[in-house]
Amino acid sequence: MADEAMFEAPVTVALTGASGAQYGLRLIDCLVAARHQVLVLISKAAHMVIATETDESLPSNPERLSEALRERSGAAPGQIRCFAREDWMAPVASGSGAPSAMVICPCSTGTLSAVATGASNNLIERAADVALKERRQLILVPRETPFSAIHLEHMLTLTRMGAVILPAAPGFYHRPQTLDDMIDFIVARILNQLGIAHALMPRWGEAT
Ligand SMILES: Cc1cc2nc3c(=O)[nH]c(=O)nc-3n(C[C@H](O)[C@H](O)[C@H](O)COP(=O)(O)O)c2cc1C
Repeated sequence: MADEAMFEAPVTVALTGASGAQYGLRLIDCLVAARHQVLVLISKAAHMVIATETDESLPSNPERLSEALRERSGAAPGQIRCFAREDWMAPVASGSGAPSAMVICPCSTGTLSAVATGASNNLIERAADVALKERRQLILVPRETPFSAIHLEHMLTLTRMGAVILPAAPGFYHRPQTLDDMIDFIVARILNQLGIAHALMPRWGEAT
């Protein structure tokens, strides 16, 4: 049993089936390095994307997934907790148990739509619905191109409700040399939003 007091505030991280699984996996690693507890939700489609885009194939069983993520990120026991698609008893499913911040990274247009309309048909959608109703921090990292009017309208709806739409659109002004540099560009923006210190890259106006 983990002593949760040894971790910084928990953050919910949901990976859905948009391209860019690397962003979500790197975010988990950075939160672990910053000593936060991470509550992880991974959709079925996200598992397919992870297998397609990375050399990793993560188990779907929540306990085995927690262990696999713990091993790859060097997390302490209990620092990463994974929950199944319909685990309605998970802390994230209720305002009384959910962390104060949730990031959906990457966010598919399907999940974007479900969150904007309050579908709550799986634990990711429910956790986001809880974040919205409780006026907590919700960051969505959509990836699609081009966007349809449906996608744009859902993003506008969500931003008006207080969610942050942080598209997976890395800049080039920091002269990225590697794929990791581009991934870190987005992850740094997410950590900035969460108010979590990092050394991934200097902020604009800071010396390099
Ligand atoms: C390899 C792969 C890449 C995909 N890329 C995207 C994408 O960039 N954006 C998107 O919205 N959907 C993408 N999809 C489709 C979603 O995975 C699909 O709509 C799925 O139903 C989303 O389910 P989820 O939101 O429950 O994860 C991709 C699917 C696969 C297999």
